[in-house]
Amino acid sequence: MSLFITFEGPDGSGKSTQIGLLTGYLRRQGHPVYVTREPGGTPIGDQIRQILHDIHNTEMSARAEILLYSASRAQLVEQVILPRLAQGEIVLCDRYADSTFAYQGYGRRLDFEALQLITAFATQGLKPDLTIYLDLPVEEGLRRKEAANRAGQGELNRMDRLAVEFHQRVRAGYLEMARREPERWLVVDASASVEEIHRCICAQVEEKLRSLLPT
Ligand code: TYD
Repeated sequence: MSLFITFEGPDGSGKSTQIGLLTGYLRRQGHPVYVTREPGGTPIGDQIRQILHDIHNTEMSARAEILLYSASRAQLVEQVILPRLAQGEIVLCDRYADSTFAYQGYGRRLDFEALQLITAFATQGLKPDLTIYLDLPVEEGLRRKEAANRAGQGELNRMDRLAVEFHQRVRAGYLEMARREPERWLVVDASASVEEIHRCICAQVEEKLRSLLPT
């Protein structure tokens, strides 16, 4: 049974840990699971990711930025996500179009209608069945990311260098999107324990899978 699940939330919110745990849980039940991420996930997308994350690219215009994220997404949807879903796999994606609405829309304040048109074009209209948002206060997210960076894990990208107010708008944006479409979103408090968060995610995924079973 195909299912498209996306994960959103700041770095340091534990997205990758939870994606790993959910992958193991679903595979143990016999589901074929494919894990990918944005920007990237394809050879072309990975090249675009390098341009987007290069801290030297300070002159990048906001419009170029959204088109690059969208180009990476278009490639991923067509080359990977749609074919995998067509084969009945469960696809887990670390970030997807909601990142664009949160960062470029709420964060950079780009025109929402334009973002919606570009996103619909890039994704061929593909929306997630379930979006899991790991919610963390902004200061805590940045603290965790800086600590990881000091410990030699993870990189600080162009977005991490933006002001705290930018990240606060991003967080408020996510919470607003989740309020508007509660049937698609699961908001989880990322300061809870890894096990607690995992249990909460599994329960929601189980419910989604059940709701897709033919009656
Ligand atoms: P990444 O290193 O993948 O970090 P994270 O672990 O936080 O996902 O960086 C992705 C960065 O790109 C992150 O700061 C959010 C940003 N981003 C956008 O601004 N718009 C988008 O459409 C996407 C997919 C990501």
